[in-house]
Amino acid sequence: MESNVQFLTFIALLVCVPVANGWGIDGHLIICRIAQPRLSEAAADAVSQLLPDFAGGDLGSVCSWADRVKFRYHWSSALHYIDTPDDLCTYQYNRDCKDEDGIQDRCVAGAIKNYTNQLLSYRDHDAASQYNLTEALLFLSHFMGDIHQPLHVGFTSDRGGNTIDVHWYTRKAVLHHIWDDNIIETAEERFYDSSVDELVDTLQKNITSVWSNQAKAWAACTTTACPDAYASEGIKAACDWAYKGVSEGSVLEDEYFLSRKRVVNLRLAQGGVRLAATLNRIFG
Ligand SMILES: *[C@@H]1O[C@H](CO)[C@@H](O)[C@H](O)[C@H]1NC(C)=O
Ligand SMILES: *[C@@H]1O[C@H](CO)[C@@H](O)[C@H](O)[C@H]1NC(C)=O
Ligand SMILES: *[C@@H]1O[C@H](CO)[C@@H](O)[C@H](O)[C@H]1NC(C)=O
Ligand SMILES: [Zn+2]
Repeated sequence: MESNVQFLTFIALLVCVPVANGWGIDGHLIICRIAQPRLSEAAADAVSQLLPDFAGGDLGSVCSWADRVKFRYHWSSALHYIDTPDDLCTYQYNRDCKDEDGIQDRCVAGAIKNYTNQLLSYRDHDAASQYNLTEALLFLSHFMGDIHQPLHVGFTSDRGGNTIDVHWYTRKAVLHHIWDDNIIETAEERFYDSSVDELVDTLQKNITSVWSNQAKAWAACTTTACPDAYASEGIKAACDWAYKGVSEGSVLEDEYFLSRKRVVNLRLAQGGVRLAATLNRIFG
């Protein structure tokens, strides 16, 4: 009896311990759905060669793969985020891109550089043979999403908002989860007929209309991949919008939702445009 209670407590802890996940399934799906139609012919061809059969040619269907393998590939869990110093609101690769053991390069920006470099060997058979480029593509597509979630570049002591308990309207949640899922879900329910496809369509239309000038600047990068610029924007958005006005126990409802959904839409659009631009640079 007692050991049963202990076991149940153990399970409850496993279920409740918040983990830094990255955008929820919809966030990653949206970014990959924005990216795929923007691929050049060469990049689209490479992507279709590298996608696993179960993707059925749809990059969006495998953009959450990296979250699903986090437990099997335990080494990969530190690659989904960056912890920056509390309250500084800045990011520096050499200072911040490391895991909890202090091992350099083990953060989402380091992972984007790593998998970009691996994919650059695509046309060099000997070099490519040391990597699994299918996994490299799935990791890169996922991490380009994560680095655009503002709280994935967050403060160290609250683990990117994972230890800040709040209410989303009437439900309990941690702040990190509000930015992974709740803002997107509430927007879909309220404005897009609960359809992720309608949200993707609206974002695509905005990228080619109201955002068309900015979108060119989003895509620009003088090397192959520019994760450091995205991480710097991320911690700034975290300070200006995600953490702002929030404390333990805050009730976040319309005022927060309506003023923050614009930031979420922007980050999703930037993530999609930049994933496509990066794949286009990689595969030439
Ligand atoms: C780079 O990729 C390899 C192969 O997946 C992995 O073992 C390694 O941990 C990665 N390192 C970083 C910093 O992403
Ligand atoms: C590459 O990774 C994918 C996804 O994990 C896996 O299905 C496939 O078997 C791997 N390929 C090789 C040659 O190991
Ligand atoms: C698209 O742009 C319009 C006009 O600026 C804006 O009102 C709307 O919120 C935007 N929607 C998304 C999903 O970005
Ligand atoms: Zn993730």
